[in-house]
Amino acid sequence: MENRDIELTEKILGLKKKRNAVILVHNYQLGEVQDIADFMGDSLELSQNAAKTDAEVIVFCGVHFMAETASILCPDKVVLLPDMNAGCPMADMITAEGLKRKKEEFPRATVVCYINSTAEVKAESDVCCTSANGVKVIESLDAREILFVPDQYLGHYISTKTDKKIILWPGFCPTHIRILPEHITQLRKEYPQAKVVVHPECRPDVIALADEVLSTGGMRRFARQTDAREIIVGTEVGILHRLRKENRGKKFIPATEQAICPQMKLITLEKVLWSLEEMAPEVKVPEEIRLRAKAAVDKMLEIGRG
Ligand code: 13P
Ligand code: SF4
Repeated sequence: MENRDIELTEKILGLKKKRNAVILVHNYQLGEVQDIADFMGDSLELSQNAAKTDAEVIVFCGVHFMAETASILCPDKVVLLPDMNAGCPMADMITAEGLKRKKEEFPRATVVCYINSTAEVKAESDVCCTSANGVKVIESLDAREILFVPDQYLGHYISTKTDKKIILWPGFCPTHIRILPEHITQLRKEYPQAKVVVHPECRPDVIALADEVLSTGGMRRFARQTDAREIIVGTEVGILHRLRKENRGKKFIPATEQAICPQMKLITLEKVLWSLEEMAPEVKVPEEIRLRAKAAVDKMLEIGRG
């Protein structure tokens, strides 16, 4: 760690104690931000953690929908997102109005929304899911017909694992679509012993070439447990910092260095410190939307416990 980062980290840790704050960090964050985490995880793990923390303040190092989910689950806590511009472009590919119109087209469908969605879209949905539990959530529903929003690729992946009819919304992750089948086939030639793990936001032709399709939390567990010494990783490159730190003897190869989510990288140590000093910017979901969105998130968490 650079001297500047050490100094910033010390200041953050001091202020965090004073504010009774917890720092939650997504697996795609910058390495130096990962290193100040009280808890790091995928979207599901982070929402479960937010739901049970005793802290008065949550500093969310991730993107806007993740901080919103924390606000939905913890209305009495202050949820800080150190940079308000850290949005998820996929979440913005659907609006509540657009979803309402689609629901009119498919009135019998149960609406499942990926957690990568705004609180307003969650409020219009029956249940939420993440990349870690999408198949489980959909299999647990009585419905035969599912309207899945907004990620067409996660929705497509789930449709290969269930007999239910899945109606897709044409959203996608601009970062994950940069991973191409050619990247995987080339790397398999270079590393014939390697295992290939990819995120379900990848295109179907990339998923078809993988050994495992996992959430980022699933990838961290897989990396620890596998006997493979080389692992090709098809997701946002920020996860490599943690994978390498947690598995010193193993080699992790990014499917492509191009798979960067610029929004995730907007959160820096300076901004974390500033947000704790100013107690801003705060993410707060209006109560009327929060209550309806919470029903969809709670239903997902309930299925996870079942
Ligand atoms: P995970 O829930 O698997 O961490 O994925 C979140 C995300 O934004 C993927 O692009
Ligand atoms: Fe959204 Fe993709 Fe970034 Fe994840 S990696 S936050 S889905 S844009």
